[in-house]
Amino acid sequence: MFDCIDHVGIAVAELDAAVATYGETFGMELVHREVIAEHGIEAALLEVGDEHVELLAALSEDSSVGRFLADRGPGMHHVAYRVADIDAAFAALLARGVEMIDAAPRPGLRDSRIAFIHPRSTGGVLTEIVEAAAG
Ligand code: CO
Repeated sequence: MFDCIDHVGIAVAELDAAVATYGETFGMELVHREVIAEHGIEAALLEVGDEHVELLAALSEDSSVGRFLADRGPGMHHVAYRVADIDAAFAALLARGVEMIDAAPRPGLRDSRIAFIHPRSTGGVLTEIVEAAAG
């Protein structure tokens, strides 16, 4: 079902500082940065081989990442698997009894389409599926 690990999501308190840390410490290049106001996040993608680390900062305390930071502090937030066809993967997961957080795939970073699986279905790991934008 999954092609590869697309990215690992990490919740951070300060996006600029985190981008600088990953860049300076690990030499990881910032390849994309985007605000998704609807979900209360600003995200930065840093390249690791063909995959990415996604740094997530909250735009407000009542966003999902804001609540995560308040509850647990900065750290690992989710793992994202790449799929070729998110509609097919979404339907297959539902058919296997997996509990989805999103009612349907929705827009993600860089014109991707994403959906989140509830940690109750994955042994406690918030899990995302991602279909990359065409091209
Ligand atoms: Co993600």
